[in-house]
Amino acid sequence: MKILILNGPNLNLLGEREPNIYGNISFETYLDQLRKRFQQLEINFKQSNHEGELIDCLHKADKEVNAVILNAAAYTHTSIALADAVNAIKTPVIEVHISNVFAREEFRKQSYIAPVAKGVITGFGLQSYALAIQSILDDNN
Ligand code: DQA
Repeated sequence: MKILILNGPNLNLLGEREPNIYGNISFETYLDQLRKRFQQLEINFKQSNHEGELIDCLHKADKEVNAVILNAAAYTHTSIALADAVNAIKTPVIEVHISNVFAREEFRKQSYIAPVAKGVITGFGLQSYALAIQSILDDNN
């Protein structure tokens, strides 16, 4: 089974960016841990700071992977286009966030992705990604 982890804007700075909120390890380091833990899966990974590129990745993922784990970062709260792309594809998309978006500023409580996602996991640090993967595995058993 193949999955895609798709990270949006500023998540290339994980480990350096606001470490009090997002922790101090890079996503690449965490990805190594995920790949070791879930060896039965092919875990593809893409990060982009560009809305259109994220949309292109979702369209491509529809033909290539069994599920997408999407952290659309700030686009979660702004992008109707990204929500439309999630809705347009058949592959299930799980929305994840590192921080608990409901415990932060008001504007982070709104997600355009959540209504079209399979589910949402938020606030477990980087482990939000592992929980999303586990949910995909449990679903396929
Ligand atoms: C985030 C939460 C978003 O509100 C924020 O814009 C991010 C990261 C998270 O993973 O906690 O960039 O998606």
